[in-house]
Amino acid sequence: MEVSVKCMKNGPLEITGEIAITDDHGHVIKDGQKVHHLCRCGHSAKKPFCDGSHTRVHFTT
Ligand code: FES
Repeated sequence: MEVSVKCMKNGPLEITGEIAITDDHGHVIKDGQKVHHLCRCGHSAKKPFCDGSHTRVHFTT
């Protein structure tokens, strides 16, 4: 399956496809989703995943 990365307007990176997201020790971390949303605003409490905080901080791109 092809992997795609979409920069969402004023929000996270949306990754679709089979990927392994790992922590800095190489351990796979999962968010239980088939489509992953990675924080790029820096305010998520669930990094590297988006928790919606970009809306609260009015993140703009
Ligand atoms: S992009 Fe959504 S919390 Fe950072």
